[in-house]
Amino acid sequence: MTVHYDLYGEVALIRLDNPPMNGLSLAIRQAAVKALEQARQDPEVRAVVLMGAARVFSSGADIKEFGSPLAFQGPNLSQLIAMVERSPKPVVAALGGVAMGGGLELALGCHYRIATPDCSLALPEVKLGLVPGAGGTQRLPRALGVEPALNLVVSGDAVKAEQLAAIPGQRLFDRLAAGAETLRDEAIALARAGADAQAAGQPLPRLRDLPCSHPRADGYFHFARTLVKGKAGPLPAPVKAVDLVETATRSPFDEGMAIEFQSFRLLMESPESAALRHAFLAERAASRIADMPPGIRPRDVQSVAVVGAGTMGCGIAISLLQAGLPVTLLETKQEALDRGLASIRQHFETELRKGRLKPGQLDERLALLRGSLDYADLAQADLAIEAVFEDMGVKESVFRQLDAVMKPGAILASNTSTLDLDRIAAFTQRPQDVVGLHFFSPAHLMKLLEVVRGVQTSHEVLATAMALGKRIRKTCVVSGVCDGFIGNRMLDPYLRQAAFLLEEGCSPAEVDRAMEKFGFPMGPFRMSDMAGNDIGWYIRQRHRLERPEIRHSAVADRLCELGRFGQKTGAGWYDYVAGRRDAIPSPVVQQLIEQHRQAIGIVPRRVPEQEIVQRLLLALVNEGARILEQGIAARASDIDLVYLTGYGFPAWRGGPMHYADQLGLFEVAETMRQFAQAPNGDAVFWQPAEWLQRLVAAGGRFNG
Ligand code: NAI
Repeated sequence: MTVHYDLYGEVALIRLDNPPMNGLSLAIRQAAVKALEQARQDPEVRAVVLMGAARVFSSGADIKEFGSPLAFQGPNLSQLIAMVERSPKPVVAALGGVAMGGGLELALGCHYRIATPDCSLALPEVKLGLVPGAGGTQRLPRALGVEPALNLVVSGDAVKAEQLAAIPGQRLFDRLAAGAETLRDEAIALARAGADAQAAGQPLPRLRDLPCSHPRADGYFHFARTLVKGKAGPLPAPVKAVDLVETATRSPFDEGMAIEFQSFRLLMESPESAALRHAFLAERAASRIADMPPGIRPRDVQSVAVVGAGTMGCGIAISLLQAGLPVTLLETKQEALDRGLASIRQHFETELRKGRLKPGQLDERLALLRGSLDYADLAQADLAIEAVFEDMGVKESVFRQLDAVMKPGAILASNTSTLDLDRIAAFTQRPQDVVGLHFFSPAHLMKLLEVVRGVQTSHEVLATAMALGKRIRKTCVVSGVCDGFIGNRMLDPYLRQAAFLLEEGCSPAEVDRAMEKFGFPMGPFRMSDMAGNDIGWYIRQRHRLERPEIRHSAVADRLCELGRFGQKTGAGWYDYVAGRRDAIPSPVVQQLIEQHRQAIGIVPRRVPEQEIVQRLLLALVNEGARILEQGIAARASDIDLVYLTGYGFPAWRGGPMHYADQLGLFEVAETMRQFAQAPNGDAVFWQPAEWLQRLVAAGGRFNG
């Protein structure tokens, strides 16, 4: 990690070199300041070019420094930018690859900017619950105009340089480079031209000196604020971003800068930003596998077989096709195969109609897909993903046949959600090549992929599964083998607790409302109605045989005995009108619950909303702690990631384990003790996991 300093005649070239994205860490900032000082003092140097050593300019602040004093340690980013802006010699920013966040702010402090047309620019701070803190909201409106700048700051989305360069009157770029190959030389030429202009008596152009206004400021900012407030929900940052752009139009530059920095610092302290930053780091951490020996390389996956063309098989096939992977879809019957192929085709046709697929891409995707009824057609595939009925006998037959026909080194994966992967692996002669790929429904839309590691799964196969997941743009989390893996295993006590709340006095709508207010898109009962209540029924029946120690409420069984399986049967915890998804509270269910309470002798009480939320969340947390204790998940942040990407846990709350950390683990254990001791309390359910008890004793946290 360093900064390179080279001379090209009278131009000093300063290249930031902190791979892979040139994060502006303290060390880089210090080195950049030194290099700028060197250029200032060298009488031979007339101008400076600032660029990335590789193709990327900079992705901005080093997020690992966020929330630590290092972020503010001098020179901080604002000081570095001020130094660039005050430089007596012209400084050119040469932007390639990515210029985001602090990286873009640094460029805005330069006197001139040149970018490759495909360079991605963004101020993504709102995605971390923040606003730009080093002048982004003050300089960008001056460079681009108020409206385009506000769009960038509020959305956090990346835009290509060529798009921004087309904005009439923009002052963001002085020039677009022909391409990455010529960027450096064109930037040096621009620096020379800048030095010549200076020698001819022109002042150095600085964005801070430009005017910033909007012809209908009052109306426009009112409109923008209303729109943004509606979309931002509980997040304060996007609305603050609107305020700051408005400040740029109303206050002198230095005042605006001070207000922006103050807002940035306040938001940095907010729980929402802490949660979003945690989620961001969790995503990065999840790809690291602690015991992966160095030098392990993923196997090459050029083609994939998908076995079973039902709901999951088709969704998985779509994900693979979207990433350009050839897929052979295998079924037992022509009719089922035709149905599957037709549904995949229909998916892509809809995408085309909606403009999400370019003409030509439809044929491209479909050309990669073929159907088969014959295992022999899978012989050359590098990987097979099984998504047949959830039945061990059927899985056995499929895995034995796959093992017999597939070439040595081919990987056999199962999408099972409840069965023992190690038993499935034992049906083959290659248990080291068997892995679980647990997709979520709808598989082509859901981000989460649990990569299930069997006891014999080899490192190479695990690495291949992770690489494939990344290729098809999934968030991969490694899970050990256990009933339900990480996500569904935690869901089980969550749903059991939800049913206990019905016994004690809640209605399904009350429970759902409390969880939806907390931030889940759907409470547990609406979710169960969507997924199908028969799944839980089947799991309870299995538990009663295999794990009789687990206590279930029979209220959900009573519901299923009425055939109320959810949306698909038009009735579940709620009533549904044909063709609609609105959940209508059901008098039948209310009566069923009341009868059940009477049968088990519970006098209903009003359960406070806070208790509903705590009981469901702490049910997740306690099971999460057991998952950590047993090494099923490698780290607490993996569990958070599973809930954030697969179960609708609100992003700005950071996941269940982060939530528990925020609450304080002593408080968590204490609340569980109170639940255990309450009337109808369940001491077994609320027995704190050992892992949790150990952390409480040590004053620790789940997430480090
Ligand atoms: P599904 O019933 O929609 O599809 C299963 C398909 O497999 C059917 O088209 C059937 O004809 C085919 N099939 C059955 N035996 C076969 C065999 N021997 N060879 C080839 N094809 C065969 O089931 P779904 O929902 O797609 O589930 C499949 C697997 O995915 C199950 O293991 C399930 O636990 C798992 N899963 C399901 C999720 C869901 O939400 N539906 C989520 C995650 C995993």
